[in-house]
Amino acid sequence: MKIAPSILSCDFSRLGEEIGAVNEGGADWIHVDVMDGHFVPNITIGPVITRGARCSTDLPLDVHLMIETPERYLQSFAEAGATFMTVHAEVCPDLMATVGQIHSLGVKAGVALNPETSLEEMDDVLGELDLLVIMSVNPGFGGQAYIPGSTEKVAEARRLLDRYGSPAELEVDGGVDANNAADLQSAGASVLVAGSAIYGHPEGPGAGVRTIREALLS
Ligand code: DX5
Ligand code: ZN
Repeated sequence: MKIAPSILSCDFSRLGEEIGAVNEGGADWIHVDVMDGHFVPNITIGPVITRGARCSTDLPLDVHLMIETPERYLQSFAEAGATFMTVHAEVCPDLMATVGQIHSLGVKAGVALNPETSLEEMDDVLGELDLLVIMSVNPGFGGQAYIPGSTEKVAEARRLLDRYGSPAELEVDGGVDANNAADLQSAGASVLVAGSAIYGHPEGPGAGVRTIREALLS
């Protein structure tokens, strides 16, 4: 199981140290939440801060694009050092073409689904994906409560990926903590994103990563 701390909940006046702390705690990826004020109500990180994150770590950067017309910005985030770029199915009329564009930039491609978006109609693109992201909150803000029905959706996504023989990573994003990590693992997730549970941990972000790791089934 991979753990991907979301820097959205970190102290941005100390970005490098905050990334260093989760690295020391055993994080596998760094999750970068990009929001545009259109697809979601919040505005957060752009390519400049993504580049700052890239310069702070050798860990893979998992760039989650919660933006409209992501095609316009893929090159910028690729140049900023993204390892994965994830677009939302809700804003991509031709998902296959967008995934192809990400691959042509030499970056791994992900697709994220909002809680209300069904896994149906994903069949065509599944074989092309490196990462499938199940949103377990409505995107826009860190610190929201986990939507319980998401666990069953993760299990359904796992069955679908297995049916297609897809090696894609299956990520869960939103409200993940030590209380639901083992259930998500049992449902077949391979990557857990956590922001507030890690950066809000009373003993610091390194302990936040370790606490989730310890909650997993061995
Ligand atoms: C939600 C973001 C998530 C979120 C995770 O819009 O995509 O990555 O910041 O933060 P927590 O773990 O606090 O829900
Ligand atoms: Zn995210």
